Amino acid sequence: MTAALEIRGLHAWYGESHILHGIDLTVQPGEVVTLLGRNGAGRTTTLRAIMGLTGRRSGSVRVDGVEAITLPTHRIAHLGIGYCPEERGIFASLSAEENLMLPPTLKGNGGAGMTVDEIYAMFPNLYERRHSQGTRLSGGEQQMLAVARILRTGARLLLLDEISEGLAPVIVQTLARMITTLKAKGYTIVMVEQNFRFAAPLADRFYVVEHGQVVETIAAAELDARMPVLTELLGV
Ligand SMILES: Nc1ncnc2c1ncn2[C@@H]1O[C@H](COP(=O)(O)OP(=O)(O)OP(=O)(O)O)[C@@H](O)[C@H]1O
Ligand SMILES: [Mg+2]
Repeated sequence: MTAALEIRGLHAWYGESHILHGIDLTVQPGEVVTLLGRNGAGRTTTLRAIMGLTGRRSGSVRVDGVEAITLPTHRIAHLGIGYCPEERGIFASLSAEENLMLPPTLKGNGGAGMTVDEIYAMFPNLYERRHSQGTRLSGGEQQMLAVARILRTGARLLLLDEISEGLAPVIVQTLARMITTLKAKGYTIVMVEQNFRFAAPLADRFYVVEHGQVVETIAAAELDARMPVLTELLGV
């Protein structure tokens, strides 16, 4: 089986700062994996480096077997990746629906994205809020919109950076149900999470990032047994 995402020896720099020091990770189609780590470990940079959004980078990033390390960001997105950055990127002056329709759909990616009707069926509150301005949406609504927007493009590999951050527990539960639904629909998901309790029941595998390297890989089935190691690494 060809991995949905295979990263080998990924290095990345911001200017002169060498941030990633050889990240290795593999995600099979339909898997959910979570990148854990302390603040500044390099998790966001890993997602940005996959998308070609850092400065210099080297190593190998294969998406469905296609080498992406030398491709520009828009070509990488067209391999079927949807990146949801931590800052969500909702345009304040546009309505929820205009925000939803903003990114172009990815062509030649084998399958179409979700239709607007399918998205509204999955996120009923976005349907109710479709005419509201971006800034009038709650944090949770903005987060759902940021994910919904990439589902419409036809991306099958989702890179989600701290989607639960700063949201009320009831919204975090809604996001957990969303991840479960997306997994059931066959999406492949790489999540960066600080909220371990959110990620724990969702992920097939956990990668602990430290100083720009993967220092520990833990399968969901080993989680209980490896909890002491994880606690030590994350300092929680
Ligand atoms: N644009 C940038 N220019 C220079 N250095 C950066 C830039 N963005 C991040 N860094 C540095 O890269 C390192 C890794 O940051 P990164 O954002 O990947 O961490 P993280 O694991 O996502 O943690 P957190 O989100 O909790 O900050 C940090 O030392 C950070 O200061
Ligand atoms: Mg981060």
